[in-house]
Formats: sequence, C-alpha cells, structure tokens
Amino acid sequence: MAEIKKVGIVGCGLMGHGIAQVVATAGYDVVVREVDDATLQKGLGKIEKQLARAVEKGKSTQEDADAIRARLNGTTDYADFADADLIIEAITENLGLKLEMWKELDAIVKPDAIFATNTSSLAVIDQAASTSRPTLFAGLHFFNPAQVMKLVEVVRGVTTTDETFDAVLAFAESLQGKIAIPTRDKAGFIVNRLLVPYMLDAMRAYEEGVGSIAEIDAAMKAGAGHPMGPLTLADLVGNDTTGAICDVLFDEFRERRFAQPPILRKMLSAGWYGRKAGIGFYDYSGDEPVENPGLAR
Ligand code: 3HC
Repeated sequence: MAEIKKVGIVGCGLMGHGIAQVVATAGYDVVVREVDDATLQKGLGKIEKQLARAVEKGKSTQEDADAIRARLNGTTDYADFADADLIIEAITENLGLKLEMWKELDAIVKPDAIFATNTSSLAVIDQAASTSRPTLFAGLHFFNPAQVMKLVEVVRGVTTTDETFDAVLAFAESLQGKIAIPTRDKAGFIVNRLLVPYMLDAMRAYEEGVGSIAEIDAAMKAGAGHPMGPLTLADLVGNDTTGAICDVLFDEFRERRFAQPPILRKMLSAGWYGRKAGIGFYDYSGDEPVENPGLAR
C-alpha cells in the first residue's frame, strides 16, 4: 500500500468541495472531479470564497491560501485519478450511481490505492464488494459543513483489512482540527443513526402542530443548546439527502422511526430540498429565511 500523498475526490458538491478543501489544507495533493466544467467551477468557486474569507478574517495568510489552492486541481476526467493513493467518493447518496462510478474507477486507479466512501448510510461492504479491492475499501464520513464540523467517522467494512483501516484512520487524524472516530459498518453509523430520527421527529412534531417551524427550531436551540434547530439542519443537510438516508435506514431496520414522514415526501416531490434549492422548511430568497408558506397549505 502506497503512502497517501495524492487524494482523488469524486464530486465537488455540498460535501465534496468541503472535503477537497480540508484535504488540501492538510497538505495533500488533491484532484477533484465533477461531471461537467460548469459544476466543477461552481464547487471550486465555493472553495476560493472560503479561502478568501479566511484571509480576510486573519485566520489564514494569503500565502497559505494560495498554497492550498495550488494543491487543488479540478477535472472532469477520471484518468486524472490514475496515480492517486486514496479516492474519496462524495457523490449522490444512490447505490446504483456509486457502483457504476467504482466500476469505472477500479479499472483506472492503480491497484494498491485505497477507496473510501463518504456515504451517509449505505453499507460500505455493498460498495467494497463491487470492486476488485474489497480489502482496500473503507468509509470516511464527513459532516456538513465539512470545513467546520470536527468529526470524521472512519468505517471498517467486514472486508477492510487492519492495514487499510489504520491507513484511513491515520489519514483522518492528519486532517487539521478533525476528530476521527472508528465505527462499524452498521447503516447510519453513529451520528446519522441518532440524528436522522431526531430530524424526522421534528418534522412529525411540526405536522402534528406541536409548534411552528421557527418555534421548533428556536426551542431546540434555547432548550437543548443545539447550534441550529432540527428543521434548519434538515435544510442544511438537504431534504433529498435526508430522504435518501431514511429510505436506506428504513429498508435496513424496518423501524417507524426511520420512515419518511408525509411532509418530507411532499417536499421532495415539490423540489424543496433546502438551502441548496433556495427553499425547504424555510424560503431563502429574501434577506432573512422565512418559513416556507407552502407548508401551511
Ligand atoms: N462552509 C464553510 N464554512 C462555514 C459554513 C459553510 N457552509 N457555514 C459556516 N461556516 C463557518 C463560518 O465561516 C464561520 O467561520 P469563522 O468561525 O472562521 O468565522 C463558522 O463556520 C461559524 O459560522 P457562523 O458564525 O456563520 O454560524 P454558526 O456559528 O451558527 O455556525 C454552523 C454555523 C457551523 C453550521 C453551526 O450552526 C452548526 O454546527 N450547525 C450544526 C451542523 C450539523 O449538525 N452538521 C451535521 C449535519 S449531519 C451530516 O452532515 C451527516 C450527513 O451524512 C447528512
């Protein structure tokens, strides 16, 4: 197994751009791939904005920001991953798409490179088994916003060898300010197993009229010390992502606490995916978010 120097990241969206920034900040060479140039430039633009903001705030020097940016290369071509030592996928939470992606990468990336999935809920083994390198496969689960949240869950699949696991754990620990916590390959790992039912319960509480969207959020901030309320959080995570995670958890455990509440299903049909769509539990089109009026209809 090669020493990790170059990291390929698949996806420069909500999670991928943050992961790319964190990995480049830690001194690794990064190549991040998107499906087309416009999507890639959008993701790279977000990173450039964050780097500029850090310089403005005096949290980073211009020299450091430039060095981080210089370590980051964008691509639309998987061929640029051929000599990467570690690949982290951060694409849509859809097993079929992830399997197609691994199949393509498996044929291109050098055989001793490690593959890691940033899946929120899918079993690592289901992806590992589709490749020619199940022993070199693990989970590296980052949290949104990846630049800020300290945790990285490091997931040991049933086929992950000790050597692979130790390498990805050491990699996660090498990322500045990150806390790496090992977990076993159980759907939802530690955080989403606990956090997703909590967000779904907040949706049910709203459906049952316990409080308004803003009241439920304000109550959990003021009463439980959470940095943001559960419905604001659902909008941040993306209601589409939360919907995909709870479908996986429900399929796995068949427990009501993981089932999509009707309000979530309707929001997904309406395209109200949250902050990234400009509308979710809140409407973000004005200066300040306001409760989505459509939900009261
Ligand atoms: N990207 C990069 N940096 C960001 C950011 C973003 N999207 N959002 C906020 N930040 C930075 C800000 O620039 C600021 O940096 P500074 O300290 O250097 O000035 C810092 O974070 C704090 O931001 P703000 O002052 O604007 O706002 P808050 O103090 O309210 O913090 C928050 C924002 C960090 C998002 C905080 O509200 C929080 O921790 N919320 C909970 C988030 C959470 O639970 N995430 C996990 C979701 S679950 C998940 O990701 C799992 C997945 O599988 C679904």
